[in-house]
Amino acid sequence: MDNSKAGDQKGRPSQPKFPLEKMKATEVRSDDIFLITYPKSGTHWFLKVIKLILNGCDTDAKGTPASEAPLLEMLVSGVEDDPRVQLIKKSHGIAMDFHVNSMESPRLLCTHMNYDRLPTELYEKKPKVIYLARNPKDVAVSAFNHFSKPPLGLYDDFPSFLADFTDGAKEIGNFVSWGSHVLDWWKRRNENNVLYLKYEDMKKDLQSGIKSMAEFIGKDLSPDTIEKIAYHCSIEKMKQHAMDDPMVKAMGWKESPTIRKGQVGGWKTTFTVAQSELLDKCYDEWLKGSGLEFQFE
Ligand code: A3P
Repeated sequence: MDNSKAGDQKGRPSQPKFPLEKMKATEVRSDDIFLITYPKSGTHWFLKVIKLILNGCDTDAKGTPASEAPLLEMLVSGVEDDPRVQLIKKSHGIAMDFHVNSMESPRLLCTHMNYDRLPTELYEKKPKVIYLARNPKDVAVSAFNHFSKPPLGLYDDFPSFLADFTDGAKEIGNFVSWGSHVLDWWKRRNENNVLYLKYEDMKKDLQSGIKSMAEFIGKDLSPDTIEKIAYHCSIEKMKQHAMDDPMVKAMGWKESPTIRKGQVGGWKTTFTVAQSELLDKCYDEWLKGSGLEFQFE
């Protein structure tokens, strides 16, 4: 894996390459729970919700460094891989030679990888998969905010980010095409091991979302516990601890990219009319005939 390239003419780093071969070879257990999302779709929000479902809303519970930050891309990367991933791993207290196989069952793992880049055993063992999708305009604004910041610094301006985002074949930080990401799991939404959820529905009614996730995972929660989980996972509550995130500290960010505005429709203050029309056109092409639709406000 070559991460030593100097980057582009402006001196920005080249896009990191996650160790895809290690990802493919990762051992999967049938009692694993996977949270799968395109980046910036609410992953951290849902990780917190699922953790509280699993432990019956014990908000003081402290897991291991790996279970606190269970991003599979990071957990499978080694010293020879992307140095920025190593920085994150180090900041969470996860050893460089850490092996995801040493995590205790049942594991909660998350990943942003496209369907065809997932561990081969995931297709065979069919662990529980919660797929979370978000409308592409809010994803684009949130992702631009994330990928343009140092030390990632992959984009100087929103138009150049949007050009890559709307080009279905371009990789943005190793993730290919929002359209195929959300569709690949939509096609599998009726399989027994898959629960397909949308960010916008969760914003409208988090308690119903928590209830369906708990049923899917096999946890019997009282209405009182569900209400408490929703309270602790509101954007307001999560913002109170946003800057405590070891990754935010390690990166030296002044604002958390993972707990930010947390709105539906925030894209309107960034997109021009022409940019919005361009993405509408791609959206129609990507999702044509699938029955999958998103709310944009
Ligand atoms: P914005 O940048 O639009 O605010 P991820 O965790 O996948 O990186 O996603 C980050 C996005 O999820 C950010 O979106 C963030 O604000 C939003 N988010 C985080 N916690 C949230 C919560 N409790 N409720 C709603 N959105 C939340």
